[in-house]
Amino acid sequence: MLVHSKNAHLFPIPNEQGLSKTTIQTILFFVMNVVIETNRLLLRTFTIDDAGLIYDLNNDPEVTRYTHDPIMGFEEARKVLEKTITPEYVLYDHGRWTAHTKHDLAFIGCCDFKFRPELNEIDLGYRFKQLYWGKRYATEATFASIGYGFEKRNLARIIGRAEPGNVGSWLVLEKCGMMYIGDELVDGHMARTYELVNPFIR
Ligand SMILES: CC(C)(COP(=O)(O)OP(=O)(O)OC[C@H]1O[C@@H](n2cnc3c(N)ncnc32)[C@H](O)[C@@H]1OP(=O)(O)O)[C@@H](O)C(=O)NCCC(=O)NCCS
Repeated sequence: MLVHSKNAHLFPIPNEQGLSKTTIQTILFFVMNVVIETNRLLLRTFTIDDAGLIYDLNNDPEVTRYTHDPIMGFEEARKVLEKTITPEYVLYDHGRWTAHTKHDLAFIGCCDFKFRPELNEIDLGYRFKQLYWGKRYATEATFASIGYGFEKRNLARIIGRAEPGNVGSWLVLEKCGMMYIGDELVDGHMARTYELVNPFIR
């Protein structure tokens, strides 16, 4: 099978003989949409059909405990996709990505670069389903996202924030090499703030 895509090297697709149509469609879907590959994960762009994943992730109060943005229903998730997530790809050429384990393509969470126009900043974010906490997936995905932002998107500076009580989150930032620059009030909540400046830009 010939696959014409910038990501084709990620998936050497064997002769499709023996593969079901669904399997081939799934492989092609990932080939077309993957942005970042790590040892264990694939990060891909959201599509308009991903409202179920957003709802599934964000209707767990433990997941939104420190992000303060629960999603109460499928329809709300669909609106977030339509009005926020997909337009960001066009506006900024980066945005939010779903994260999947490579071995079974399970959806485990997401990572994002959020542009904050009021601060002129790129704010790094991530959230994972509880089932996948404590497996260093967050660190792996975040580290790769930072590399992508600097090397492929030429971002000058990346900011990361986590509430003081969200220990796991600020440890992820520290493990990815981000520098603590102080505490500040953002969107009504105190946050430990970290930054990293692009070492490839002088
Ligand atoms: C924050 C979050 C992404 C961390 O995920 P995770 O799976 O625990 O992250 P990792 O497995 O990569 O762990 C990073 C480190 O933090 C440690 N850690 C994680 N949670 C911790 C906690 N509650 N207390 C102390 N250490 C913790 C881990 O042990 C690991 O350290 P190690 O590598 O030395 O063992 C996850 O808890 C989450 O999705 N929370 C909900 C959404 C959220 O709050 N997002 C961040 C908003 S700023």
